Amino acid sequence: MAQVGIEVKDLNFSWPNGEKVIKSCSLEVPKGEFWMLLGTNGSGKSTLLRLLAGLLAPESGEIRVLHPVGFVFQNPDHQLVMPTVGADVAFGLVEEKLPPAATRARVEEALGAVNLLTLQRRPIYALSGGQKQRVAIAGAIARRCEVLLLDEPTALLDPDSQLDLVAGVRRLVKSRGITALWVTHRLDELNYCDGAFLLEKGSLVDSGEAQRLKQRLMEVHSEAS
Ligand SMILES: Nc1ncnc2c1ncn2[C@@H]1O[C@H](COP(=O)(O)OP(=O)(O)O)[C@@H](O)[C@H]1O
Ligand SMILES: [Mg+2]
Repeated sequence: MAQVGIEVKDLNFSWPNGEKVIKSCSLEVPKGEFWMLLGTNGSGKSTLLRLLAGLLAPESGEIRVLHPVGFVFQNPDHQLVMPTVGADVAFGLVEEKLPPAATRARVEEALGAVNLLTLQRRPIYALSGGQKQRVAIAGAIARRCEVLLLDEPTALLDPDSQLDLVAGVRRLVKSRGITALWVTHRLDELNYCDGAFLLEKGSLVDSGEAQRLKQRLMEVHSEAS
């Protein structure tokens, strides 16, 4: 049987105010595949991603995710904490207590993977939005993440950097056997994934071939306008 990178069975979650935002969700992402999670604002995408990352505890259900898990937020300014590119990626390795030479090697390898090796000493504030997202991804690569969860990583990017980022993540997933789940509502990004899930009001209402889901959503959009 094919290995599974992310597996969720009958997952439920409610906020303390009683609002039920994840309803009996079940999904599977095969190891080494790049899947996307679609849905309108408030449908529960970020909540589901946080549950997968272990940042929230489910009310009931099963979650199995290969570890380590990397998480990339919509706004990199909420994620990057150190003054420079290299220091930020190294910071994520502190817990592993590696010798300094091993840390340097991991940082350089990860920055190479996202094409930022030449910017290792660059201050974070001097980066573009797309470069910041690549630093966040390098942090996950340096920690040797098996699973990469990305919550609307292109929301703040211009269209060119948006498509660069999604193509870059696809390359990383395919070259390293990483399993990735990418949240988006931009339909053009669907061209890069292996499959997609559609979340509506906390329920998974469709999943599978990306082009079919794209077609379904384009019809909904044109009916609405
Ligand atoms: N920290 C929170 N406390 C209470 N309710 C929340 C919190 N975060 C999100 N919600 C609610 O959960 C629902 C799903 O939100 P979210 O997962 O952020 O959706 P999406 O990412 O698809 O836009 C929304 O109704 C939102 O208002
Ligand atoms: Mg969200």
